[in-house]
Amino acid sequence: MKSVLGGPFCTIVQPVLFGHRLQIKRCETLRSLSRCPPFRCMCCTVAAAPVSSLITSDLVEQEFSELNLKHVFEKVGGVRTRQHVNPLKASLMVPVLPPRWEDVFSDPSLPIAVDIGSGSGRFAMLLAKRNAGSCNYLGLEIRHQLVVRANNWAAELNLSNVCFIYANATVSFGSIMSTYPGPLKLVTILCPDPHFKSRHHKRRIVQMQLVEKIIDSLAPGGKVFLQSDVKEVAEDMRRQFEVKVDAYFLNDLEVNPSSYDKDGWLLDNCLGVRSEREIHAIAEGGQMYRSLYMKAS
Ligand SMILES: C[S@@+](CC[C@H](N)C(=O)[O-])C[C@H]1O[C@@H](n2cnc3c(N)ncnc32)[C@H](O)[C@@H]1O
Repeated sequence: MKSVLGGPFCTIVQPVLFGHRLQIKRCETLRSLSRCPPFRCMCCTVAAAPVSSLITSDLVEQEFSELNLKHVFEKVGGVRTRQHVNPLKASLMVPVLPPRWEDVFSDPSLPIAVDIGSGSGRFAMLLAKRNAGSCNYLGLEIRHQLVVRANNWAAELNLSNVCFIYANATVSFGSIMSTYPGPLKLVTILCPDPHFKSRHHKRRIVQMQLVEKIIDSLAPGGKVFLQSDVKEVAEDMRRQFEVKVDAYFLNDLEVNPSSYDKDGWLLDNCLGVRSEREIHAIAEGGQMYRSLYMKAS
């Protein structure tokens, strides 16, 4: 379980230096967008950001200021990670065993919300802080060092209802959730890596095997919230969930049509917290494409 949770040691190498104009590395998400914004993805590695990145980075800091992680950030520094991990590599295709839930949550009988591709983890952490005592939060993330840092942050904040697991969610979601004792009430997939080239679509998180496992695992009334700032990626996710819609698995569009635009995209983020990529994308003038599904009660 130690390795699943990222181990006890932090491999963080240096703090991020805001305001320094040094070479910037961008994650594929950003590099591949035609507008190619000059800011960094906060969950990726850069030693420093150009001045123009300060605006959106500051917005992210503001959004998560309630976590008061600034000092934690300074103390443990930034994380240097490989920008992308190939989810198809052999070691990541083996389903991860579930943890002993009583070791990771103070009350494992609570409902749980799972954030797939949790990045830095601050989205799940903020929800965990706001909903302590009523819901557990689990982040699944394929970049090991982000998992280590997120678990360190959660420990520093004394949050006993949030945990991050190092896993390829596409293959491990089912095995991990199979032993959770409480009801699965929410799954979020927020701005997954786009993998634009068609030969790389098989690396996208949302594949039919994951869709089926999510729907099987959801409790009655449980929800799936999907969003991306890349329309093609949002359409791909929507297409895959759509084929499973029936009397037991409902598209919220059909239940609450007034909450959607003319193209069937949910107008608002109904979670109460925005993800880091969402904050960046909206600040850049981008649009979010959202869908919501639910298991019948
Ligand atoms: C573009 S980031 C978005 C992070 C966050 N959800 C947000 O909206 O700010 C996508 C994240 O998904 C992670 N990821 C990609 N493939 C994954 C997989 N198969 N399983 C788990 N995490 C994955 C990446 O490492 C990255 O942290």
